[in-house]
Amino acid sequence: MAARDKLIVALDIENEKRCYEMVKILSPQVDIFKIGIAPFTDFGNSVLEELGKAGKKVFLDLKFHDIPNTVENAAFAAAKKKVFMMNFHCLGGTRMMAHALKGATEGASAVGGNVPLLLGVTILTSMDKEEMNTIGIKGTVEEQVAALAGSARQAGMDGVVASAGETKMIKKMLGGEFIVVTPGIRPEWASHGDQKRVITPRQAIKDGSDYIVVGRPIIQAADPLEAAKKILEEMEE
Ligand code: C5P
Repeated sequence: MAARDKLIVALDIENEKRCYEMVKILSPQVDIFKIGIAPFTDFGNSVLEELGKAGKKVFLDLKFHDIPNTVENAAFAAAKKKVFMMNFHCLGGTRMMAHALKGATEGASAVGGNVPLLLGVTILTSMDKEEMNTIGIKGTVEEQVAALAGSARQAGMDGVVASAGETKMIKKMLGGEFIVVTPGIRPEWASHGDQKRVITPRQAIKDGSDYIVVGRPIIQAADPLEAAKKILEEMEE
């Protein structure tokens, strides 16, 4: 797969007009864009339409977590909108994820589209062991990530979103085919912002990430297109 098929730019932009400008600026180099809960809540349908018109792929990062029937219906709706990739909290359970797969499959077939890539979200990277234990989840973060990634695969998810450092363990445990999408990417020249466990694009690809998610190092760069190019070059090395 070429580097540009593995790069996902996080469109974490609150201003709708600016968001579309960014898509236009990055369009020559970037094919996949991630839409999260803030822009989606504000102008979700319009952004999906704009990206569709521009021929771009969408990673719908809404991290669904609800009862199986509700999640099935949400996955059906997203697949009908022809999103490329979407995600679900593994903590919703294997039954919930299995229903997500059913909904996504039926939604895709209703419009003659492809079934979106379905990803599990394990333990949020903002959570450490102490916070995780406080809400009653025992053990280490790594143990939980391993268990939840296993449950995602069992439920038929295509892969998981994982932080830097978890990719090798997940690939070893669940096999190379199981997709790993990695955020928290920082090239050496970019500021870390609030991300703690970061990894360079080069290292993420070397560790086996199938897709990397990059937000601020691109969208807040003085020249976003140039930043995307530099990252793509680094991924190709
Ligand atoms: O700007 P930055 O490159 O840090 O953006 C990373 C993106 O990936 C953000 O949209 C963030 O919400 C998302 N993300 C993350 N860590 C996770 C899951 C998603 O940073 N574990």
